[in-house]
Amino acid sequence: MDLKDHIRGVPDFPKPGILFYDISTLLRNADAWQVAMGRLARIVGAYRPDVLAGVESRGFLLAAPLALKLGCGFVMLRKRGKLPGDTVGLNYDLEYGSDRIEIQSDAVTPGQRVVVVDDLLATGGTMAAGIALLKNVKAEVPAAIALIELGFLHGRDRLDVPFEALVRYDQ
Ligand code: PRP
Ligand code: MG
Repeated sequence: MDLKDHIRGVPDFPKPGILFYDISTLLRNADAWQVAMGRLARIVGAYRPDVLAGVESRGFLLAAPLALKLGCGFVMLRKRGKLPGDTVGLNYDLEYGSDRIEIQSDAVTPGQRVVVVDDLLATGGTMAAGIALLKNVKAEVPAAIALIELGFLHGRDRLDVPFEALVRYDQ
């Protein structure tokens, strides 16, 4: 199955000139969803993770069911101010402005193998921040995984761990 047949490109969203790759059409198709999760499980499983970290919000849609399938724990990397208790955060730059992701301070045990999962790698800023945050709380990060990679933005060059994606767009 070519998963690209199930990913919809929406022109001019969220801004004019941007082609938005929408995974809604993949998720609502039972067969495509099953195939995507199976392929992701094979890739992620090879890194022998203890825990998967999902990036709010679309990363949760993949990381949580994948963790269940692999028998791993699941932790949330959330946008600012959403997590209760002690948190550790990291600010990162966006195309315009900046953002912050946070994790609960006790979410991972030092040395645990944590694979970061998101739906899409664009500039790589979000994924790089997620990896750095996990390393700050002493996780080992063997890899980062996305369903979609926008290859023309070269986001993987910003990552200091192995990166794999199921589907790549080069323009
Ligand atoms: C999108 C996407 C990735 C990130 C990729 O999330 O889901 O998380 O942007 O961009 P980058 O590689 O340039 O950092 P978004 O912030 O739009 O939020 P959402 O997941 O909550 O929809
Ligand atoms: Mg996101």
